[in-house]
Amino acid sequence: MLRYLRQYRTADFRQLLRNQRTPHQRTTASLAGKTVVIAGATSGVGLAAAQEVARFGGRLALVARNEAKARAVQAQLERDFGADASVFLADFARLADVHRVAVELLERLERIDVLINSAGVHCTRRQTTEDGFELVFAVNHLAPFALTYRLLPRMRQAGAGRVLQVNSQGHRFGGLNLGDLDWRRRFYVGLLAYGASKTAQLLTVWDFADRLAGSGVTINAMHPGEVRSGIGQNNGPLYRAFHRFVVAPFLADARVAGESLHLLAAAPGLAGVSGRYFNRTLPEKPAPHALDRAVGRQLWARTMELTGVPDDL
Ligand SMILES: NC(=O)c1ccc[n+]([C@@H]2O[C@H](COP(=O)([O-])OP(=O)(O)OC[C@H]3O[C@@H](n4cnc5c(N)ncnc54)[C@H](OP(=O)(O)O)[C@@H]3O)[C@@H](O)[C@H]2O)c1
Repeated sequence: MLRYLRQYRTADFRQLLRNQRTPHQRTTASLAGKTVVIAGATSGVGLAAAQEVARFGGRLALVARNEAKARAVQAQLERDFGADASVFLADFARLADVHRVAVELLERLERIDVLINSAGVHCTRRQTTEDGFELVFAVNHLAPFALTYRLLPRMRQAGAGRVLQVNSQGHRFGGLNLGDLDWRRRFYVGLLAYGASKTAQLLTVWDFADRLAGSGVTINAMHPGEVRSGIGQNNGPLYRAFHRFVVAPFLADARVAGESLHLLAAAPGLAGVSGRYFNRTLPEKPAPHALDRAVGRQLWARTMELTGVPDDL
């Protein structure tokens, strides 16, 4: 822990603490005529984002693994906001699903103005996916990377678009080891595995942003705030009880996250802003280990290999 803390400069700490105390900004910018793809819209941060997008007139494509939950959200968005929302099914623990859903999205959506990757998971015990990857790394990093990569050509054709990766202050835990991305050789610590997945995602955001420079398409990462959601509910009763009685009382309503994502997706002042990390809506410097571009380049190559996306960006 001390090793990580020592990497920080005092000014970065001050910014972090200041941001934590500063309320998020809001906007009334319209999303009418815009198509917004949200992965993970069945709960928490993604659901709150879908509600804000619908409130401000955006058309929604909801990517979810649970059809019943997604249909319930679709019905709620139609009833409460008169929203045009469609459902696309994919389990982010299966890369084949992600590739398939990307094709379906490209077939059915003429334009994609915003992509919000909010599907995410935190596990206290190591689990592996059918593809053989550690689950948290697969869902939080590999899947959103592959979906982003596959959808970007549609945004590039239009010469406009915003990608928002829902990341986390948890990236500050570190944990990324290029020689052991799947936690086969290390004792599994849930918070570190979560930190590794979020660090990996941040490192690829900088590389995506470089590749997209001048295209009109932007990509940014954001921490959605500490908000009430279903995160971690897949873990055991001890974790759930701790979360319910110790953590949850201090959490904000998920609307904070939804409003922040709406602002990052729609605010005219952010057109052209790319390759940044926001604490809700406030620009912030990520942890030093998430800014290591040499590690980022190696991770990019490994991620391309593991996800099997074509090298055509
Ligand atoms: N809540 C916070 O305070 C907080 C703080 C920092 C960062 N975040 C980040 O915010 C994002 C959203 O988390 P949340 O807090 O909103 O948690 P949540 O309420 O549990 O929502 C997670 C979403 O991801 C979906 N998901 C999980 N595993 C999936 C899979 N294998 N395939 C497809 N979808 C899957 C869930 O679908 P189901 O409904 O089917 O489970 C749900 O829609 C995550 O990336 C998380 O790391 C949250």
